[in-house]
Amino acid sequence: MKPYNNKNSPKKSQIRTMFNSISGEYDFLNKLMTFGSDTIWRKKIYEIAKKSDPKKILDIATGTADIALELSNIQNAQVVGIDISEKMLKVGEEKISKKRLMSKIHLQIGDAENIDYPDKYFDIISIGFGVRNFENLRIGLKEAFRVLKKNGKIIILETSVPKNIIVRFFYKIFTRIFIPTLGKFFSEDKAAYSYLQKSAEKFPSGEDFVLILQTIGFKNANIQEQLFGATSIYTAEK
Ligand SMILES: C[S@@+](CC[C@H](N)C(=O)[O-])C[C@H]1O[C@@H](n2cnc3c(N)ncnc32)[C@H](O)[C@@H]1O
Repeated sequence: MKPYNNKNSPKKSQIRTMFNSISGEYDFLNKLMTFGSDTIWRKKIYEIAKKSDPKKILDIATGTADIALELSNIQNAQVVGIDISEKMLKVGEEKISKKRLMSKIHLQIGDAENIDYPDKYFDIISIGFGVRNFENLRIGLKEAFRVLKKNGKIIILETSVPKNIIVRFFYKIFTRIFIPTLGKFFSEDKAAYSYLQKSAEKFPSGEDFVLILQTIGFKNANIQEQLFGATSIYTAEK
């Protein structure tokens, strides 16, 4: 599904336009929409990544670089963050230079579906709330697989739909009202928040997403549900 009603414009360019338009408010609204849990999830990603003692990390769809910043706490690791939205990256660059982490994190414009790095280059790949925005999910995951070293780990944080029927009922009512209302109050771009809510409901989650990872070639996939199953952290290996 696409953010805007323009059928002729490809999803990727609509996604870029959308994130460019909400880049200034993204961090604030992300915190509100996740009830501040985003910080906890990033710490979990850090803990998982740290175990492999990685030297080269790629954060795909890095946006305002919060995951890249968290992962830069891993000793001796260099982090590359790529994103198609130059304005999201600009916010990220400002945070990195404020924290004087320019020597540890490198941000660049880059497309998940055509990654500008050689095969088997990275020890760890992270993708936070990025995969459901890809134009072609399978091509994006195949590219991640390609640039990951053998036995390297991919860590994906993504919205999911709770499995329990009662929780799912409340989840749907809540997100259908809460997220568009936040957009209405805090953003000029109402369509963006409607897209974020609807795409979260439609995106394959849980075992369905694991199946996709397995068809790409990933093994040892694992799901850690967060926030009553409204978000999941998936890990898998090459
Ligand atoms: C919801 S934001 C997530 C940002 C950050 N990872 C986080 O966890 O807060 C999604 C990001 O995915 C980026 N994105 C979408 N499709 C992409 C693609 N094909 N390649 C690279 N980045 C992409 C968007 O530009 C946007 O910055």
